[in-house]
Amino acid sequence: MLKVEGLNQYYGGSHILRGLDFEARLGEVTVVLGRNGVGKTTLLKSLMGVVPIKAGTITLDGQDITKDVPYERVRKGVGYVPQGREIFGRLTVEDNLRMGLAYKSGSTPIPAELFELFPVLKQMIHRRGGDLSGGQQQQLAIARALAAGPKLLILDEPTEGIQPSIIKDIGRVIRMLADRKTMAIVLVEQYYDFAEELADQYLVMERGEIIARGRGHEMQANGVRELMSI
Ligand SMILES: Nc1ncnc2c1ncn2[C@@H]1O[C@H](COP(=O)(O)OP(=O)(O)O)[C@@H](O)[C@H]1O
Ligand SMILES: [Mg+2]
Repeated sequence: MLKVEGLNQYYGGSHILRGLDFEARLGEVTVVLGRNGVGKTTLLKSLMGVVPIKAGTITLDGQDITKDVPYERVRKGVGYVPQGREIFGRLTVEDNLRMGLAYKSGSTPIPAELFELFPVLKQMIHRRGGDLSGGQQQQLAIARALAAGPKLLILDEPTEGIQPSIIKDIGRVIRMLADRKTMAIVLVEQYYDFAEELADQYLVMERGEIIARGRGHEMQANGVRELMSI
């Protein structure tokens, strides 16, 4: 579903992403691990087109999206859940969800299944985003990304600062979405246990490079936890 080849990215003179190559398959969760500052967020921003890439190609479902602006990528099927959630605090839950549909024509209804995935959003529909708990905001950010029916869902540390019960709920939803085999999921995580539980494929980053990779069930045997804690 997603194919990344020779991806290089710079901020000013610093070389942040160094020749990344990987694929994320339909129906699979591809987990990207790595400590702070290794370039995980920059990778997801590059996939979304928030920062234009310097070299390399990004192919989504056979289409080259390398040069597309974020809006076009959303239309072509990329759903992005940014680090820190970035929901609109002064807008209601309903209006935040509508933002996820903003590229469609005026009256597209919010898909009812979003409320099946996250029932709390139904109860909170008229509340302001800023009044929700961190976990509820994270669920809202995921629902907003799903509103447009993505083929590729990318999530940046969805467990960051969230209570364990909601982390479990979010994990269940991610697994269920993958198992439907309608999208590929790229999950950036620093929380090892959560990553291991969900990973079909894993990639470990270090200073802008992929230094280890494999299938999710091999993570333990391959010492990925130890790699993360060095
Ligand atoms: N907007 C920016 N301008 C300049 N440098 C940045 C910017 N954003 C991130 N960086 C630097 O790029 C590197 C990778 O950052 P980031 O992708 O946020 O890493 P991670 O998400 O893995 O913590 C870090 O060294 C960070 O300081
Ligand atoms: Mg980050």
